[in-house]
Amino acid sequence: MNELVEVASLTKSYREAGRIVCVLKDISFSVMPNDYLAIVGPSGAGKSTLLHILGGLEHPTQGRVMFKKQNIYKMKDKDVALWRNKTIGFVFQFYHLIEELNVLENVALASFLKPRKSALKNARILLKYLGIEERGNFFPSQLSGGEKQKVAIARALVNDSEVILCDEPTGNLDKDSQVRVIELLEKLHREKNKTIVLVTHNLQLARRAKRTLFLEAGEIK
Ligand SMILES: Nc1ncnc2c1ncn2[C@@H]1O[C@H](COP(=O)(O)OP(=O)(O)OP(=O)(O)O)[C@@H](O)[C@H]1O
Ligand SMILES: [Mg+2]
Repeated sequence: MNELVEVASLTKSYREAGRIVCVLKDISFSVMPNDYLAIVGPSGAGKSTLLHILGGLEHPTQGRVMFKKQNIYKMKDKDVALWRNKTIGFVFQFYHLIEELNVLENVALASFLKPRKSALKNARILLKYLGIEERGNFFPSQLSGGEKQKVAIARALVNDSEVILCDEPTGNLDKDSQVRVIELLEKLHREKNKTIVLVTHNLQLARRAKRTLFLEAGEIK
């Protein structure tokens, strides 16, 4: 089978006050092309850590992450950064917006390898869809939590990436906005063949995915 991503025997541990804390324990699973995978589990289970590792953002302690048969953690840092920009759209749990840039710039920046005009145009289209186009000139410090979340979502989608990794993308949104975001992700999955991996506490949302992975205390259940 042609997996898009193969995660094999993945372990992640941190050294904390002289003690080693093992956050992910021998995790193996695959993500198929055009997959829609939900990852659920209690707080502290290691969901964000796993998503960061999938997105090339954090080195595993042991094990491999193969993307189209290539081990991304064997690539040079510069090549990983380029691969990430081309391939991955990432919605961070805590947004990670750039405070010095306004909303429009935060979104368009993710598309910096494309011509500036089309990046700005795509950014405006997404902000409009998410109902925050009138916040384009605002800075992150001037936004509500839900608005920041929408900017983080727009930024992850603006590049038209093959893979969309979302960490609690609806955690701070009201019901209407949640539905709009979910419908947008599902439309991208259905019509543009995007592969989606979504971390969520929202079981209703998880149930809409093709497959669900339960993570508990760093292990797949
Ligand atoms: N940089 C770090 N140093 C030490 N421990 C860390 C670090 N990052 C995460 N951890 C620990 O790893 C565990 C898993 O964290 P993670 O953020 O992946 O959980 P999560 O499943 O995403 O939780 P939540 O649902 O609350 O977002 C936690 O116990 C956390 O304290
Ligand atoms: Mg998390």
